[in-house]
Amino acid sequence: MARVKEVTAESIREWERISAHSHITGLGLDGLRAKPVADGMVGQIEAREAAGLVVRLIKQGKFGGRAVLLVGPPGSGKTAIANAIAKELGKDVPFVQLAASEIFSTDIRKTEFLTQTLRKAIGARIHEIRKVYEGVVKELEIEKAPHPYNPYQQIPIGAKIKIATKDESKTLKVDQSFAIQIYQQGIETGDIVQIDPELGRIVKLGKSEEAMKEKGYDITRERILPVPSGEVLKEKEFVYPVTLHSLDVAFARESGSDIFSLFFGGRESKEIEPEIRQQVDEYIKELVQQGKCELLPGVVFIDEVSMLDIETFAFLNRAMEQELCPILIFATNRGITTVRGTDIVSPHGIPLDLLDRLLIINTRPYTKDEIKKILEIRAEKEKIKIEKEALEYLTQIGEKTSLRHAIQLLAPAYEVAKENKRERISVEDIKFVEERFVDVKRSVEYMKSLEEKFLK
Ligand SMILES: Nc1ncnc2c1ncn2[C@@H]1O[C@H](COP(=O)(O)OP(=O)(O)OP(=O)(O)O)[C@@H](O)[C@H]1O
Ligand SMILES: [Mg+2]
Repeated sequence: MARVKEVTAESIREWERISAHSHITGLGLDGLRAKPVADGMVGQIEAREAAGLVVRLIKQGKFGGRAVLLVGPPGSGKTAIANAIAKELGKDVPFVQLAASEIFSTDIRKTEFLTQTLRKAIGARIHEIRKVYEGVVKELEIEKAPHPYNPYQQIPIGAKIKIATKDESKTLKVDQSFAIQIYQQGIETGDIVQIDPELGRIVKLGKSEEAMKEKGYDITRERILPVPSGEVLKEKEFVYPVTLHSLDVAFARESGSDIFSLFFGGRESKEIEPEIRQQVDEYIKELVQQGKCELLPGVVFIDEVSMLDIETFAFLNRAMEQELCPILIFATNRGITTVRGTDIVSPHGIPLDLLDRLLIINTRPYTKDEIKKILEIRAEKEKIKIEKEALEYLTQIGEKTSLRHAIQLLAPAYEVAKENKRERISVEDIKFVEERFVDVKRSVEYMKSLEEKFLK
């Protein structure tokens, strides 16, 4: 006999992917002040408060064309703070994240890649008022006729549909294109539909509450909606969230209908012509002027900024002066270094003219207590249990080596604990992995000792 096993929420959760910053859900602020431990964030008070101010300004649209630089030693939470900023900004504000090295590894031109990145980070909400018929289907009659090539088959050629709201009803005669859509979506009486006559579209929105009762269903996959009130034909506002880049792609696809696309179904060009972008900009500007669109400049976060080269810096510098530019957030762990592509030595490897425009936020090394707290949060997130003394010992490792190294030892140590039939990680388990995975310092010392031996 076939057995059915219920999949409980617990076992689904096991598939949750744990990434480096998945314990971070926000900046952990209370107004302008940072709480010592909140939203997965620990310490780094000044940096988090500064980031909170930046979030506020971005949300108020007062930060356009500006940039922030996060500077601090490796593993001090720069990328974590950038992720927290994204969480604070919410889903509406685009947040595009890239590592500087990605710029050098794409198959499109560098400037094209950068332009696309910047335009992905500028959102727009396009509002449109459309006249639509909306209501519950009361009667539905599909008109059929024999297929022109196969007289034994019937095809829909039109339909008569009666739609009602709580207050009125209307009977519409629709043509074949609607009748086919009615078939495809399996629309029947009792469904709530929306008909857009201009676009030639009928959409099923869900099932009406009364139809559910009438048909005696207890459960359905469909959305259950109340019957709308008011007139059947009404003006409705639709909001389409897009980014400038998604519009670029859509415009490019439409204008690319040449002979090639006839045969091969459209050419997927990876680069977008400047004329297309100009068209998009004009289109958006017009909509903004008509009050039909609002722009939402988002954020581009560029990690490892010291790896950018002089051309990229020049490009970004110019972009920041333009009207439509997202907010740039950079991060680096380098002090004084050369600007890539030149022999100029500069703070953080960033040219001085760009540096001058940046608001700089420092992150500092962690105290012992902070390391311990972060390890505790990580263990909880990864569903790892650890004994007090073991946590203490791992904290010491974190202090001696780095926070990241200590975090990385958690998962393997738990594996060892399980192998030893223990529920919690013990000091012994940590010592086991400590001896098998070395931190950078030890690894370098090891190579040095070998070199000395062989070069003698
Ligand atoms: N203040 C903090 N609170 C909680 N977790 C933190 C905090 N700071 C760092 N972490 C966690 O520690 C790890 C290392 O931090 P992160 O990757 O942000 O460092 P970084 O400053 O970006 O380092 P790098 O210069 O090497 O890029 C990450 O898993 C991060 O989520
Ligand atoms: Mg980082």
